[in-house]
Amino acid sequence: MRIAMIGTGYVGLTTGVCYSEMGHSVICADIDEEKIRQLQQNHCPIYEPGLKELIIKNSSKGNLSFTTDIEAAVNFSDIIMIAVGTPSLPDGSVDMSFIDEVAHKIGQSIKDYKVIVNKSTVPVGSADRVRKIVQSYIKTPFDVASVPEFLREGSAVKDVLNGERIVIGIDSEKAKDILIKVHEPFQIPIQVTDIRSAELIKYAANSFLAMKISFINEIANLAEKVGADVLEVAKGIGSDSRIGERFLNAGIGFGGACFPKDTLGIINIAEQVGHDFKIMKEVINVNRKQYMRIIEHLNAVYPNLYGKTVSILGLSFKPNTNDLREAPSIKIINDLVKNTNGNIRIRVYDPISMDEARGVLPEIVKYCYSVEEAIVDSDAAIIVTEWKEIVEQDWKNLSRIMKTAVIIDGRNCLEGMDDDSITYLGIGRKNYKLKIINL
Ligand code: UDX
Repeated sequence: MRIAMIGTGYVGLTTGVCYSEMGHSVICADIDEEKIRQLQQNHCPIYEPGLKELIIKNSSKGNLSFTTDIEAAVNFSDIIMIAVGTPSLPDGSVDMSFIDEVAHKIGQSIKDYKVIVNKSTVPVGSADRVRKIVQSYIKTPFDVASVPEFLREGSAVKDVLNGERIVIGIDSEKAKDILIKVHEPFQIPIQVTDIRSAELIKYAANSFLAMKISFINEIANLAEKVGADVLEVAKGIGSDSRIGERFLNAGIGFGGACFPKDTLGIINIAEQVGHDFKIMKEVINVNRKQYMRIIEHLNAVYPNLYGKTVSILGLSFKPNTNDLREAPSIKIINDLVKNTNGNIRIRVYDPISMDEARGVLPEIVKYCYSVEEAIVDSDAAIIVTEWKEIVEQDWKNLSRIMKTAVIIDGRNCLEGMDDDSITYLGIGRKNYKLKIINL
């Protein structure tokens, strides 16, 4: 099958490349000339394990190509997938301007039957919106479908190739047959459903996962107060298969491009139809405050942070990505600077996202090139992102190079930190030795 993927962001590029890996002929289109030029030269614009290798492999096989000519991409294909950005607007609603623009372009370009697929996360009713725009240009029959993507950053290729389900929202038999044929090579269970249910599935899935995180974070906050350990609680509840053990890692909250946007999005979708989605509002509130646990822990050890040196380990919103969108690291650093009127030394280290951080973090920040360089002589080390490289350090020995061995673990990712010489504080953990250091 011939597929045009319009938009080469995270979702578009990864899924486009994976469709080519399944033997389809894929042309990825984007208006960003520089990005397309890079991709044509086998450079991958995002850090995503395995993606570059698949780009090189399928481009050389002739299955995969890149263009800025959207009209040519549309005419080349049987299926046109829309995977452009759908950012949040200030009121929480979804900015549909990029989708609309592509729909207009498709309407102006198509000459014969096509299946148009929404891959971007778009509000319920978006397929109808695209249909209306395209219809305003042509009389030729076409179909619109919703095939949402469930990939995670950092394991996007693996998620697309080995996903747990493929959801196809469709209202035409012809398009259904075509889309089943396209997805059969993945050998992943397919759920065929109506378009609006498919659109809602994507928001409901992300909202539920975000809710699980905020729930366990609230349990962690409670555990600290009642003297329990959130790791034990998560294990005890997670072994009930109705709850499930995954996504119960308490910490400093969710970030990234999806959960913050989609939780706001579902509230807005509900508001449009007069439904007050209170649970999700609270999920967001809990998450907005959760990063402050770090500051509170730090203040518990150092009531006065003026003049202290604090090392921030990990900057991206989660490991294996260079993505800093909605990353707790930014909020933590900004708060530390603000609370001390800039009278603090902040050293940062991240294995991948240092370049991205330079444009985002305050000037006061010193960029280091290893965990050691970041923590030497510092008063506290804060683990913000659980990168393997950070977790696998020999912390008991390494912390000796710090001025004072205070480790605040925002992801509960270090084990065996029961050492008298170290002040170790996790999130929702019991039995840490809290020493008030009034220096
Ligand atoms: C998410 C969904 O998982 C994916 O299915 C969807 O298509 C896009 O949104 P992603 O944003 O890449 O993917 O990251 P994910 O791995 O889900 O993590 C999201 C955030 O939640 C991260 O900030 C992570 O640190 C946090 N998280 C996750 C927790 O705090 N605790 C957990 O137990 C799990």
